[in-house]
Amino acid sequence: MKSFMLQGAKILATGSAVPDSSLNNYQISRIVKTSDEWISTRTGIKERRILTGDNKSVVDLAVLASRKALNKASLHPSEINLIILATSSPNDLFGSASRVQSKIGAINAVAFDLTAACSGFVLGIVTATQFLQNCKYRNILLIGADVLSKWIDWSDRSTCILFGDAAGAIVIQSCSIEDNSVLDFQLDTDGDYANYLSILYQQELNPHPELNLYQGSFKYVYMNGKEVYKFAVSQVPLSILKCLNSLNIKVNDIDWLLLHQANERILMAVAEKLSINSNKIIANLNKYGNTSAASIPLALDEALQQGKISNNDIIVIAGFGAGLTWGTVVVQWKSS
Ligand code: COA
Repeated sequence: MKSFMLQGAKILATGSAVPDSSLNNYQISRIVKTSDEWISTRTGIKERRILTGDNKSVVDLAVLASRKALNKASLHPSEINLIILATSSPNDLFGSASRVQSKIGAINAVAFDLTAACSGFVLGIVTATQFLQNCKYRNILLIGADVLSKWIDWSDRSTCILFGDAAGAIVIQSCSIEDNSVLDFQLDTDGDYANYLSILYQQELNPHPELNLYQGSFKYVYMNGKEVYKFAVSQVPLSILKCLNSLNIKVNDIDWLLLHQANERILMAVAEKLSINSNKIIANLNKYGNTSAASIPLALDEALQQGKISNNDIIVIAGFGAGLTWGTVVVQWKSS
């Protein structure tokens, strides 16, 4: 990748936001037949945050996370050239990124949504990096945000225990090639298995049969948990290894493994397959559950706040989920 790069891309700052309202495993056990013990041992999740309140949407969380990242980067919103909102739960099917642009006052920014479920943030880093490394833009705001609680069937115990709402944002800026921190990526898709994890549109009504007009609505999250688990544990290590090989980086050189926060068992199994010590895993899903496109920037922001990540640390970031889509980005952290 380096040979096509005209300049580098560097993550300047991160920010995140979660709703105030939390829902723990005991509370869930009052609405479906489950238990804290079952959920904790199978997933590692203890509680999650749920967006409540009238007219609150993914945009509110995205705006909060974005403002925090912009403040930390000491950038005025008008300096942002592009906003990418990775989400699968917009409050407008035409896209929600432009609402974020308007609310934060990023008057010079182009804004669009990127839909790739739990891989959305990884695809977002790769997309943003292209615009920076080919000199088109200087400052990009990338947000991963989801409110899957609005798309959950709260009577389905196999899915309602997993997800939570959140947003995470990063400001990523062009820099000299020497300071480039997005080293390489590996992306994959296999639509043959799209039915393992979906929120499908379903045709329902035909108000004018003579005209063949159909209307319908989106259903709830459907998931084949066993198959998704097998997919993640088999494909994510391969994706990471491909990316490391292309960079000539050894597994031992990895400082941090930052995976999409789907399930603690998936995190441990991937680390084990790669022989990465579990103390290098960044994890916070016990508090937030699976927050889809938000999970990686939320965990990154928290790890930075805890002072875990140092200058030049190698962070392997991997996302996986519906599509099926999966991908890896290797980042060398550059402190500003
Ligand atoms: N509480 C109690 N029992 C539950 C339950 C719950 N919340 N959900 C399912 N069960 C039951 C099932 O009905 C089944 O009962 P049965 O044996 O009597 O039929 C039993 O537990 C085992 O179900 P199964 O689906 O085989 O469990 P599992 O070990 O595969 O664990 C997941 C389920 C969802 C935790 C696991 O498959 C998983 O983590 N998959 C990956 C999901 C994921 O990460 N998705 C997002 C990717 S982006």
